[in-house]
Amino acid sequence: MNNPFARASGRPPTRLRPRTALVSAVAGLALVATSVVVASSASAATTLGASAAEKGRYFGAAIAANKLSDSTYIGIVNREFNSVTAENEMKIDATEPQQNNFTFANADRIVNHAISRGMSVRGHTLAWHSQQPGWMRSMSGTALRNAMLNHVTRVATYYRGKIHSWDVVNEAFADGSSGARRDSNLQRTGNDWIEAAFRAARAADPGAKLCYNDYNTDNWTHAKTQAVYRMVQDFKQRGVPIDCVGLQSHFNSGSPYPSNYRTTLSSFAALGVDVQITELDIEGSGSTQANTYRNVVNDCLAVARCNGITVWGVRDCDSWRSGGTPLLFECNGNKKAAYNATLEALNAGGTTPPPTTLPPTTPPPTTPPPPTPPPSGAGCTASVSLNQWNGGFVATIRVTAGSARLSGWSVNLSLPGGATVTNTWNAQASGSSGNVTFRNVSYNGTVNAGSSTEFGFQGTGTGPSGTPTCTGS
Ligand code: G3I
Repeated sequence: MNNPFARASGRPPTRLRPRTALVSAVAGLALVATSVVVASSASAATTLGASAAEKGRYFGAAIAANKLSDSTYIGIVNREFNSVTAENEMKIDATEPQQNNFTFANADRIVNHAISRGMSVRGHTLAWHSQQPGWMRSMSGTALRNAMLNHVTRVATYYRGKIHSWDVVNEAFADGSSGARRDSNLQRTGNDWIEAAFRAARAADPGAKLCYNDYNTDNWTHAKTQAVYRMVQDFKQRGVPIDCVGLQSHFNSGSPYPSNYRTTLSSFAALGVDVQITELDIEGSGSTQANTYRNVVNDCLAVARCNGITVWGVRDCDSWRSGGTPLLFECNGNKKAAYNATLEALNAGGTTPPPTTLPPTTPPPTTPPPPTPPPSGAGCTASVSLNQWNGGFVATIRVTAGSARLSGWSVNLSLPGGATVTNTWNAQASGSSGNVTFRNVSYNGTVNAGSSTEFGFQGTGTGPSGTPTCTGS
């Protein structure tokens, strides 16, 4: 499926192309047989993803790596959706089961499948109090803060360029009427843990939209919704890099679809962020369930910055709440009334302009790298982008070749007293304090004239402030 949201193209959404082409074809045929003109009403898209794409949006599903070989399941996924989210495979316990030992095999199966079919990928999730591996659950304080930031940096770096939107932080607010943050080991590292995670994510993947994602934030009057709203407002005012808010939208009798849902979507959007419906499921059956799906789609289409909708599973029996039959397909793969209502609403909608903000909507958060002077000769230059927090930092170094191709490079920089390099990627470090030299590794020594490559390192203490020296060979 041609997906206007695929990151690789960097192109804006291609709206209405299928319909435009069909209308043109119909117009041509009308010269031959006027009755064909009525076929323009049959131009309605026949799948959720295609219809959403016509409105500059995506329609996605959470999928599981261990179901990719189920032919009914994957048949629906490939036919209907132009976005996927890994239901569990990108969570912290899945990607870093032992500290600093990263495993991406299952997540890669989902990402590679999506990319090969032109679907975009929502990343879920980088920092969360739940589904932490054992080693992280038992950590606290600075060690936990640094481990969390290392996780964010490493996972977002690994998938850099492949993720449309990251759920950087998930479910950080308490339920109920307090409007407070949820107590967790991460929260106890300091109230700034959320913004630190967002800064680390931006440094690692500057092209991904960075979202805050939560549940029970659908009703505009609820304290939790208001608390998330105030945090996003504060982040926008202070330049913390946030691009989107994810509303999970798990609806059931205890947490029903609220009549003010559209107000919630438009209020967040008015803060200057995109809004995404990230984990939609609606318990129930028949026309009641179908009408609620219709309402949700209509609400999203009515808000220009509502980018897309993801349902949390494919068939009812794939759902984490399978007993509530909350999804769009029966277990045998048949479409439900809820599916038909969803597609009809998508096809009927789209009167508002689509979101046009594919790149992040906030400026890069961290100290922007100083403009790199055009290198001359066969040498190279290096610039530092620093994400600093109290007690630690992540540095991203851009190495740019001069007018000749490099076959190797090294970067020397000076760390302030007390600073120590704890972790390096895409380079080999000599030393860990004072003057430290970073050399290319096997796969990034060759840099074409005028081109760049990046490496990074994490450290404790204060990050480097001077200009690094770059030596090419
Ligand atoms: O894969 C193992 C299996 O080998 C084992 O036999 C079985 C025994 O319990 O567990 C299986 O893993 C389960 C996994 O889902 C895969 O089915 C885990 O126990 C179970 O905890 C896990 O639940 C996931 C849940 O997040 C965990 O918090 C659900 O699939 C997933 O849908 C759900 O997703 C969350 C979002 O991430 C955040 N928002 C809420 C949403 C619903 O809870």
